[in-house]
Amino acid sequence: MKNPLIIALDFAEKEEVLSFLGKFPEEKLFVKVGMELFYQEGPDMVRELKAAGHEVFLDLKLHDIPNTVGSAMRRIAGLGCDLVNVHAAGGSEMMKAALEGLDEGTAAGKKRPLCIAVTQLTSTSEEQMRAEQLIPVALNDSVIHYAGLARQSELDGVVCSPHEAKLLNSRFGEGFLTVTPGIRLAEEAAGDQKRISTPGFARQEGVSAIVVGRSITKAADPYEAYLSFKNQWEGVLS
Ligand code: C5P
Repeated sequence: MKNPLIIALDFAEKEEVLSFLGKFPEEKLFVKVGMELFYQEGPDMVRELKAAGHEVFLDLKLHDIPNTVGSAMRRIAGLGCDLVNVHAAGGSEMMKAALEGLDEGTAAGKKRPLCIAVTQLTSTSEEQMRAEQLIPVALNDSVIHYAGLARQSELDGVVCSPHEAKLLNSRFGEGFLTVTPGIRLAEEAAGDQKRISTPGFARQEGVSAIVVGRSITKAADPYEAYLSFKNQWEGVLS
């Protein structure tokens, strides 16, 4: 995974995905399939995207007992995904079971999918975390703690904000992936994302991969929007 720009395919069904991808001339993309699309279209959607030559981040955020997560990951690896995720709150045993399942499900001669952890969801506020999860620390400390737990469990990285990437890189090494949503071009509106960053800022902070959804999927010209993000991300423009 070499610093990809990952497009979040936040569509309800396959027809919309195909019509969207039809606007990208000959591009092999890195795309994210989330819960809505996966639960509507099932594993065939992932197989189809892989067969078309795209790389796939399957964003299902697994969180269950270790045995169940391990078995699910065995199936997920069989789909040939490139990147998958779990909730770090499931614990180190669960994260290790996820990796074992991925190893077992990866076909001989293929690379096992990278596995990253969600720490605290960006929709969780510090007040909520304290009141509802009874975690009596600063939100940032909880994020760092969970990232450390993911590192210890030998996961490949975390989903985080570009604002946290430098700190996480310095604590856990550049090899520990930081995958960041909430990316907008400077001139765009934030929408429902609270803390947004530009692709250029993410690059400066040493982010490993950016995830961009609506700014590309809902653009009048998605390919042009993709190229704007990609150029800024890759540093052609700043
Ligand atoms: O449309 P937008 O660029 O905000 O989409 C961001 C994508 O990243 C969505 O698929 C969203 O679910 C996902 N995501 C996020 N924040 C997180 C984790 C995932 O926005 N903390």
